[in-house]
Amino acid sequence: MSDESIRRKQARSFDHLSKTNSTTPKPANFPSKVQAAGLNPVDWKIQARGFLVESYPAVLGSDAAGDVEQVGEGVVGWEKGDNVFFQGFYRNERATFQQYTTIPADLVAKIPSKYTYSQAASVPVSLSCAIYGLYAPKPLGLGLNPKIDSSVKQTGQPALVLGGSTSVGLYAIQLLRYLEFNPIIAYASLKHFVYLKSLGATFIVDRQQVSLADLPSAVARASDKPLKVAFDAVGNAEAQEAGMSCLVEGGELITVNSTTKSDSDDGKIMLAVFGTVHLPHTRAFGNVLYERLPQLIEQDVVVPARVEDLPNGLQGIVDGLQRLKRNEVSGVKLVGHPQEQSN
Ligand SMILES: NC(=O)c1ccc[n+]([C@@H]2O[C@H](COP(=O)([O-])OP(=O)(O)OC[C@H]3O[C@@H](n4cnc5c(N)ncnc54)[C@H](OP(=O)(O)O)[C@@H]3O)[C@@H](O)[C@H]2O)c1
Repeated sequence: MSDESIRRKQARSFDHLSKTNSTTPKPANFPSKVQAAGLNPVDWKIQARGFLVESYPAVLGSDAAGDVEQVGEGVVGWEKGDNVFFQGFYRNERATFQQYTTIPADLVAKIPSKYTYSQAASVPVSLSCAIYGLYAPKPLGLGLNPKIDSSVKQTGQPALVLGGSTSVGLYAIQLLRYLEFNPIIAYASLKHFVYLKSLGATFIVDRQQVSLADLPSAVARASDKPLKVAFDAVGNAEAQEAGMSCLVEGGELITVNSTTKSDSDDGKIMLAVFGTVHLPHTRAFGNVLYERLPQLIEQDVVVPARVEDLPNGLQGIVDGLQRLKRNEVSGVKLVGHPQEQSN
């Protein structure tokens, strides 16, 4: 498929999101000073393929941690200087690869004191993707825990995460652990074995040794129970197909490729997730998430990804996006610092 037809296909598939966004209510906003901005694959994909963004010049970036610069009119419970983190969006006034941005007050969390700006900025987008996919009510996600309630359990049920060492995969593993899935099977490079185990994976299938085509038999060896829940954090057609093949009838696969059409095959369902708190139909779950998030992080239910701080201010972000595009980032989140001077 040519780049142009990919671009057109993706532009079409995001049409509904853009339209719903234009009716987003206007709650009180914080102007916020961005101290750290996480990088995501979508940031280079938007530039390369031209989707999600509607007008130019466009500022990108949708992960941030920083300081409340000014408290919006009518907003209570926040003060100038509070350290906060939040998910941005693909509009200039919500983008995070800039020194200042704005954020609705109901979609912000305070940074727990044990974490840095960079660690906090690594969380929002990747966590959103994983938690909307697994916990948000249907049809946003699988609806496994719509209130993010600590008493909800799936004890002893197996689950699979393809792409366990992706930033999204790390959170999918942790969210499955919170529900007491067992085993939690991660398809990832063995070099991440210890790290993924520390987050809750109980069985690693080494992607250097086992092809995606052989994944179903490796999963069958890892669990004698039928697999009903799988999370594809890779997002290409091969990973989706492998994930679907591992499921039993009635099983459900979440895929991170939000341009894929949700589908069903052989009594199995594939659901594409778009992890954002900013659309009218995703916002209610976003409110639940941002209310619970400081506690989930404080209690180590959600542990931020390992981070690599990029030097050189905004230019460092441009360089980091090139590394993401070249697939040179493994098991770590790149974080830029818009307040720093670029060379
Ligand atoms: N729908 C949404 O809302 C949403 C939100 C965020 C991200 N995404 C998408 O989710 C995907 C992951 O994003 P991310 O930020 O988590 O990526 P990332 O952290 O940059 O991904 C890098 C990791 O991908 C792993 N990987 C690459 N190919 C793999 C394969 N075939 N099998 C298993 N692991 C593989 C690499 O593992 P090794 O270390 O083994 O090389 C590396 O650790 C991207 O496609 C992104 O666009 C979607």
